[in-house]
Amino acid sequence: MPDTSRFLRGSFAPVTEETTAFDLPVTGAIPAELTGRYLRNGPNPMGLDDPNYHWFLGAGMVHGVRLRDGKAEWYRNRWVRSKAVAAERNEDWPGGPVHENMDFAANTHIIGHAGRTLATVEAGPLPYELTYELDTIGACDFGGTLSGGFAAHTKVDHQTGELHAIAYYWAWDHVQYVIVDPTGKVRQTTDIPVADGPMMHDFALTQTYVVLLDLPVTFSLNAVAAGRELPYVWNPDHPARVGLLPRDGSAGVRWFDVDPCWVFHCLNAYDSEGRVVVDLCQYNESFDVSTLWAAHGPVTLDRWTIDPAAGQVTQRRLDDRGQEFPRVDDRIVARPHRYGYSAVIGEINRAITVAGDFSDDAFANAIIRHDLVAQTAQTRGFGRDATVGEAVFAPSAPDAPEDDGYVLAFVHNPERSASDLVILAAQDFLGEPVATVHLPARVPLGFHGSWIADQ
Ligand SMILES: [Fe+2]
Repeated sequence: MPDTSRFLRGSFAPVTEETTAFDLPVTGAIPAELTGRYLRNGPNPMGLDDPNYHWFLGAGMVHGVRLRDGKAEWYRNRWVRSKAVAAERNEDWPGGPVHENMDFAANTHIIGHAGRTLATVEAGPLPYELTYELDTIGACDFGGTLSGGFAAHTKVDHQTGELHAIAYYWAWDHVQYVIVDPTGKVRQTTDIPVADGPMMHDFALTQTYVVLLDLPVTFSLNAVAAGRELPYVWNPDHPARVGLLPRDGSAGVRWFDVDPCWVFHCLNAYDSEGRVVVDLCQYNESFDVSTLWAAHGPVTLDRWTIDPAAGQVTQRRLDDRGQEFPRVDDRIVARPHRYGYSAVIGEINRAITVAGDFSDDAFANAIIRHDLVAQTAQTRGFGRDATVGEAVFAPSAPDAPEDDGYVLAFVHNPERSASDLVILAAQDFLGEPVATVHLPARVPLGFHGSWIADQ
């Protein structure tokens, strides 16, 4: 069994310091309309030499850049203060509610909702709320309105302002659909029975449905007994299926069989003439989350069309290059999208893949801008050692059309051994970046982020 500490090296290697820097140097001109914060979460373990380290279990560290008036006012990186992180740093733990003794420094995503800045994680723990400057306030159960754990991935329907999530936890015989209202209180939970304790990392939302991915990665007591740090394994006995749950709770889930596969991330979904269209990044063979080895690559961008009348799902490949971290303009979530942004992260593709039919471009560093109506894509490459992370879209104005804005990503700058925040104009995607903000520190490869405009 290959060790998992490959996620402690190279671009994955954690940083050891928290840094605060003001008035960052910039090449180009930061668009004056960008007022807010670009934040990104990721694992940053405090111990550096654990051979059993699992990438998904490092303590969360949030990296953020504050933009205003064409300036990069600050960069900060902060560990999320779980009880363990606070103890390691000889600090008082800020405290807060804990679900089932599952306190954890949420490491997967960072979102803004109802005035809160929330670091999120799945599989049992609650989110942690941070201040504007990324200091930990404490764990958040939405003012006592959530009794279970929460989720890493959430979706805001921008017409209603409601936050949607699917929570799962190994000891439950169900997963829980949670709706948080625009004031930040849970207004509805719906339990959905499932077998075997499946991992549900992400889901999709349309105007009428929640789209659930019940795939063959499930909780394993054998993996616990074997000492796997993350006890979710490929389970060939667990049928793969996708479910449609009416958002209004008017009916139960209707499930549709699909071929065994794994999906971490959906780009977006929408209703279309009685069908549901879901664009997602698909691992086409088995994927063992406990070891982070994919049997085959690459991970492709695919379109699943779920037809309730016909009772079937049809699948079509949109892009066969190895890519992940698909994102849509957040304002479009649950509605028809034309554009999507995904990342080609060579270091991840190298780290997770046992075998596969890769072309060289799977090992590059690039961001792809997909035009899914024209069926074209633009690929913005970075240097061989310029590891790129997830790209996030920021609109040029709150009511600007889809894709009228900027694409933001942290990109490693090997010449400085530090990272840059690269800001591309979405509609001049292959041109020079409109701005490159030079951070004083390296941002390790991590997970997900958000552009959180000031309210
Ligand atoms: Fe994710």
